[in-house]
Amino acid sequence: MRILSGLQPTGRLHIGNYFGMMEPSLRLQHEGEAFYFIADYHSLTSLHDAKQLRENVRDLAIDFLACGLDPEKAVFFKQSEVPEHTELAWILSTITPMPMLENCHSYKDKTAHGIVANVGLFTYPVLMAADILIYDSDLVPVGKDQKQHLEVARDIATKMNHTFGEGTLKIPQPRIREETAVVPGLDGQKMSKSYGNTIGLFEEEKALKKKIMGIPTDSTPVEEPKSTENSSILNLYRLFASDAEYAQMEADFRKGGIGYGEFKKRLLEKTWTYFADARAKRAEIVANPQYVDAVLKAGAEKARAVATKTIARVRTAVGL
Ligand code: ADP
Ligand code: TRP
Repeated sequence: MRILSGLQPTGRLHIGNYFGMMEPSLRLQHEGEAFYFIADYHSLTSLHDAKQLRENVRDLAIDFLACGLDPEKAVFFKQSEVPEHTELAWILSTITPMPMLENCHSYKDKTAHGIVANVGLFTYPVLMAADILIYDSDLVPVGKDQKQHLEVARDIATKMNHTFGEGTLKIPQPRIREETAVVPGLDGQKMSKSYGNTIGLFEEEKALKKKIMGIPTDSTPVEEPKSTENSSILNLYRLFASDAEYAQMEADFRKGGIGYGEFKKRLLEKTWTYFADARAKRAEIVANPQYVDAVLKAGAEKARAVATKTIARVRTAVGL
């Protein structure tokens, strides 16, 4: 079974990204042949700063490896090292109906927020379809927000097969993680870099402390019971603590006698220790920059070997 997923290098990862997509993808690397890539072509639709893009790509690669991506198990590479993605995207775009893309929420949302869309943003789902189809992927694990893009990929593949012959492209299956609760941000809304309410995965200790101790709370006095409903402290603690620890904190909220400062300290402690191993691994990787380059280079070679076969098959099917 071939598993494929991609991540845009648009900024430092936060714990919403981690629990929403990275951790589930890392678990899947043990269940099949995983292909994970850094979607740098995609990020060009919103990021036009060469230095920043290079830094983001590097950080994302390091973070992914630090969190447990095993290059012996998963093929890990940069999308732009396999230019066949864009060639396939062009071919797919010639059979993709305009209305299919005009209907995509992510495009509609962005333009509704006043962003003047570039052509790349509009055709983003076609490139994403190419990313998936070029590896004959069986399974694509993504977050809920990508569900529609996956349907587009399946529709495009089906249309290619009808037009140019069954077997031209493999129809992928989505694995939508409906069950992943939305990770709340420091202010209780969905954690998102656009809301400025994130906790970074590899935050400095001081910065992490400042963020967690600064979580807004109500003015319930120390001795009184605290509301457990919609508490950012509890909701974040749930991600890091064992069931027993979580139940204990919930009970302590209800009982009263403990102030929010104490609960925040417990959350801080758990958050910090949860990523301790990854932090140590990250420091090791940062000290050895050639390692990252070597992993990405080897990954690109393996990916390209598959991609060139698919593109040859598609070129023949369409008559190029
Ligand atoms: P952001 O909202 O910070 O811009 P992205 O849109 O780049 O994050 O998200 C990349 C992936 O991370 C998404 O596909 C989504 O599945 C996951 N993700 C982002 N934020 C959260 C969150 N708060 N809770 C769960 N998953 C999230
Ligand atoms: N669009 C995805 C996101 O923003 C990233 C992505 C690009 C992707 N190509 C992909 C995900 C192919 C899965 C498969 O999260």
